[in-house]
Amino acid sequence: MITVKTEKEIDAMREPCAIVRDTLAYIGTKIRAGVTTQELDDLAREYIRSRGAEPSCLGYCGYPASICASVNEEVVHGIPSPDRFLKEGDIISVDLCAYKNGFHGDGARTFAVGAIDEEKQKLIRVTEECFWKAVENLRAGTPLFDIGAIVQNYAESNGFSVVREFVGHGIGREMHEDPSVPNYGKRGTGVRLRAGTVLCIEPMILAGSRFVDVLDDGWTAVTRDKKPAAHYENTVVIREDGVEILTI
Ligand code: MF3
Ligand code: CO
Repeated sequence: MITVKTEKEIDAMREPCAIVRDTLAYIGTKIRAGVTTQELDDLAREYIRSRGAEPSCLGYCGYPASICASVNEEVVHGIPSPDRFLKEGDIISVDLCAYKNGFHGDGARTFAVGAIDEEKQKLIRVTEECFWKAVENLRAGTPLFDIGAIVQNYAESNGFSVVREFVGHGIGREMHEDPSVPNYGKRGTGVRLRAGTVLCIEPMILAGSRFVDVLDDGWTAVTRDKKPAAHYENTVVIREDGVEILTI
């Protein structure tokens, strides 16, 4: 069931969402060659807690860390590790959630480690643009799957592909609520979104083909062709005349 949030509930979500935004920006300043993904996880957890929030991912379905740190061909849910050193030319997607005031916020950014090649530059740019294209005309009454149709069309017209196994979602008192928000689909289909619906819109875009595998750790999704992937996510409120983005 898709729940519509009251203004009071949306106001309560502003703080966890602002903490997500600020944590992502803070982690962005720490990314450089030689840093381990475990160090980023520790910094994020300490920062989120210093703001009086909890990292929602820690312990979620047994997930062992506070952030997802997915490097290069890792698409989502990369588990931070003290053995994973970032190196010049890598890209890293950082996805994290914060819980405060009884609500979750959720966001992701993909960062470059030093100088990266042109394909990775374009991948990061197009992934972010997929989000902006999807929200450009989004408002109350928009069919849900227009979001995915726009993301898919823009990604594929740039020669990239979209993952099918992982999707965006509603968010609120739970980290994952209805509806699922795929990054693919057919325009004009799906329920018409109502004002006050809060969604995580999160293009996960692959430089090569759309197929992914999950590693033996049970979490890390990697591209089958080992080409890089990028992720960009914000928590947004559907409004009568557009969207309000809570994690920017
Ligand atoms: N932030 C992720 C999302 O967009 C959730 C990560 S799942 C976890 O849905 F288990 F790793 F926390
Ligand atoms: Co999400």
